[in-house]
Amino acid sequence: MTTVECLKYLQHEIHTTVAATIDENGLPVTCAVDIMDYDESGLYFLTAKGKSFYDRLVRQGYIALTGIKGKDTMHSVAISVQGKIQEVGNSMLPQILAKNPYMKKIYPTAESQEALTVFKLYEGSGEWFNLSKKPIERVSFTFGEARPKHKGYYVATDTCIGCRRCKNVCPQGCIDFRSVSATIQQKHCLHCGNCMSVCPAGAVKRLEE
Ligand SMILES: Cc1cc2nc3c(=O)[nH]c(=O)nc-3n(C[C@H](O)[C@H](O)[C@H](O)COP(=O)(O)O)c2cc1C
Repeated sequence: MTTVECLKYLQHEIHTTVAATIDENGLPVTCAVDIMDYDESGLYFLTAKGKSFYDRLVRQGYIALTGIKGKDTMHSVAISVQGKIQEVGNSMLPQILAKNPYMKKIYPTAESQEALTVFKLYEGSGEWFNLSKKPIERVSFTFGEARPKHKGYYVATDTCIGCRRCKNVCPQGCIDFRSVSATIQQKHCLHCGNCMSVCPAGAVKRLEE
């Protein structure tokens, strides 16, 4: 999955996400937010200027959101994205309303649409996480100026003694021993940490963000 394919999936296939912001007391708050549009540089969503949600967005300039699609856990894909936001205002509103005509049922008249304003998530990172595949599949992506985050575990090849204990405890069977030392298949790794816990040589390391 490329970045733009992930953003498209979020807008097109998932559409409604749960978004996290921080309230005036520093506590997390979540609410449902629809992803109205996307392009290669980010995601677009809208809100009404009278909402507490709007105040939180303006105050922090940051959002984190997750959307899930699937009939149950083992048939689901989740996409999470977090990053910086800016208010675009209402210049994009006609285009967004045309693409999401159901919004006219909620805000039916031009006068009522006056409350609406568009935000762009313009710089961020995210992850596609597919639990419907065995082994699981995960893909990280970034957009804007965001630098990729490195999470998970790797094997220091010069320290690995080839005992295969990590392979035995890996729930996804994603540790290769095709060469002498182990290699973790990053795109199938759950990040459970079992491999690091059992390695007698201390060869499994945690990736730094
Ligand atoms: C399916 C669904 C989608 C929603 N999408 C949006 C949205 O895109 N923008 C928005 O401002 N509110 C949306 N809402 C409503 C917000 O989740 C709701 O107004 C929330 O309470 C906002 O937080 P606040 O009460 O702290 O302002 C949606 C609600 C539902 C049920």
